[in-house]
Amino acid sequence: MTRQTDADQARSEALVTEKVLASFARTPDERLREVMDAVVRHLHALIREVRLTEAEWEAAVRFLTRAGHITTDTRQEFILLSDVLGASMLTIGVNHPVHGQATEATVFGPFFVADSPRVEPGGDITGGAAGEPCRVSGTVTDAEGKPVAGARIEVWEADEDGHYDVQYGDGRTAGRAHLFTDAEGRYCFWGVTPAPYPIPHDGPVGDLLAATGRSPMRAAHLHFMVTAPGLRRLVTHIFVEGDELLARDAVFGVKESLIKPFTRHPPTDPAPDGREPATTWTDVVFDIVLAPERI
Ligand code: BEZ
Ligand code: FE
Repeated sequence: MTRQTDADQARSEALVTEKVLASFARTPDERLREVMDAVVRHLHALIREVRLTEAEWEAAVRFLTRAGHITTDTRQEFILLSDVLGASMLTIGVNHPVHGQATEATVFGPFFVADSPRVEPGGDITGGAAGEPCRVSGTVTDAEGKPVAGARIEVWEADEDGHYDVQYGDGRTAGRAHLFTDAEGRYCFWGVTPAPYPIPHDGPVGDLLAATGRSPMRAAHLHFMVTAPGLRRLVTHIFVEGDELLARDAVFGVKESLIKPFTRHPPTDPAPDGREPATTWTDVVFDIVLAPERI
């Protein structure tokens, strides 16, 4: 038998790709066909480019199987995988292009919980979460600078040990709440100064990070989700200026415009609302601009 030439080999590899592409060619949903066509082309190109070995293919299947096994209602390993590959942030980038002065979006993360408690303006969202008190205030306006009254602001954050309430597994609600802007579009609440924390890394995604010399740490941040009728829902965070993790956030969530100065005050500094924290405290201003629903 004659040996295959390189050209023969390339042709037989290309034939596999062509056959698979043809198998999807009659997909009735045009968008599904477009996406599957790209999935096949790029996946096959990857296999050819790295000359994937069978052992590596088996390792990839084992990795995905483990990701499936560890995934539950409260632990979504596939979203974590998307996050550490930058796929979550790229999808956000594709779907939320910068729109004038509108506040930029970033990753949602796995720790949002619906039905958070409501706090009144100036209220406390900590629910007993440990940490240095932090006063957060600002405005919500539309892209024309008009104040948005009654915008719903959901906030959630980890405590000073880097844990969200849901990670304690004891049913507590802490470090999360919602509130509404006043007639001038203003809001204000007390939380804790954000602390850095690792994304869940006791599963296959954590192993991938370790094997590639990457850290699971996220830069310290405070999550926001802001909604108002007729305006685009905003899911974002603010980050702490000066945090050394800003440049190597595990999920690539940091955007320059979302880095804010958190000013630290001694306990002797009374807060603008008269509150006198017993410890040092910080304050940060975050003015939010919502894009129109249809851009
Ligand atoms: C978070 O910020 O809560 C988060 C985002 C992505 C992965 C894990 C956690
Ligand atoms: Fe977070």
